[in-house]
Amino acid sequence: MTIKNTRIVLASRPQGQPVAENYRIETEAVAKLKKGQVLIKVIYLSLDPYMRGRMSKEKSYADPIPIGGVITGESAGVVIESRSLRFQEGDYVCCPSGWQSHFVTDESDLNVYPVDPSRVPLSAYLGVCGMPGRTAYFGLIREAKPYASETLVVSAASGAVGSVVGQIGKMLSLRVVGVAGGPEKCAWVKDELGFDECINYKLGDLDEALREACPDGIDIYFESVGGALSEAVAQQLNPGARVPICGYISSYNAEKIAAARTPFDIFGELPNPPWHKFFLVFDYLAEYGEANTKLVDWVANDKIKYRETIVEGLEKAPEYFNWLFEGKNFGKLIVRVAVD
Ligand SMILES: NC(=O)c1ccc[n+]([C@@H]2O[C@H](COP(=O)([O-])OP(=O)(O)OC[C@H]3O[C@@H](n4cnc5c(N)ncnc54)[C@H](OP(=O)(O)O)[C@@H]3O)[C@@H](O)[C@H]2O)c1
Repeated sequence: MTIKNTRIVLASRPQGQPVAENYRIETEAVAKLKKGQVLIKVIYLSLDPYMRGRMSKEKSYADPIPIGGVITGESAGVVIESRSLRFQEGDYVCCPSGWQSHFVTDESDLNVYPVDPSRVPLSAYLGVCGMPGRTAYFGLIREAKPYASETLVVSAASGAVGSVVGQIGKMLSLRVVGVAGGPEKCAWVKDELGFDECINYKLGDLDEALREACPDGIDIYFESVGGALSEAVAQQLNPGARVPICGYISSYNAEKIAAARTPFDIFGELPNPPWHKFFLVFDYLAEYGEANTKLVDWVANDKIKYRETIVEGLEKAPEYFNWLFEGKNFGKLIVRVAVD
């Protein structure tokens, strides 16, 4: 029986927020496997903010997706055919499939790695126990280098990265203040995840809200958002403060991202700039094992909680992707591509 692959490719480069015309859906027959190859059926596809940058023509730390190329992305799936000694049929794996239903790869591809859904659910390997979880782990522990009782402010606090940053912060005895969009997200962050406070930035007056929530000032700001929040945080940083810059999602759809006012401008222009630096989770590639082990243990033992928004259908990925920029996701945004 011929297996058909469905894939979503970049038809044109978005100007501002992506629209349906920027994508094209294609189907193709999956070719016969060569020696050493495996065929993976994608079950869950991760949607992540960084993908927006890859749709632009500017080169950043990675090359842009070429026009006609499959949209970049990680997925969790199952090996359904194998001509490899490294993987057997039935093995669950994470892999850089991109936005497609099937992925053929070589056994030598180290970006394909086995995962164990008996420890935590398969989808969790794309979020809390996957790339976003590792970003939180290395960004807080290695970049910010926190000390007990310091005050940590976490932007996008109910999201895939932010929710883990704050919970690790609590394990390290920090005062943790989240910032999130809306009362429901803030209630979850405070009541379920155990942050000390959570500010709903949509209510405005961030200066006053931050002053109340951070009476001793801010020692660490985990930057994921940029814009008005960063401007407000910048005024309340303590001497010796650290600002690991994970991202600045509020600018990702800017018509001219190079012209946008970034956290580097905001923090760099202060009379006494704090330590601030963009970091990439991939910088820690050699140490992923350490983070993976800890994150899976924490989740399996209920020390870290997480939330997912799981939406249905690969064809609708373009529509769901925009949810990240509209705050419509609550926790990690994942597309169910096929049933397990
Ligand atoms: N450096 C790295 O290696 C690395 C790795 C992974 C992720 N990141 C970055 O980490 C950040 C968070 O990623 P994630 O995967 O965890 O996404 P996420 O938080 O799960 O989802 C994005 C959230 O950002 C908030 N947001 C979107 N537009 C906003 C705006 N204009 N102003 C304020 N908030 C806005 C929304 O939450 P609200 O409803 O609360 O507004 C939205 O739900 C992104 O900047 C991403 O690029 C960096």
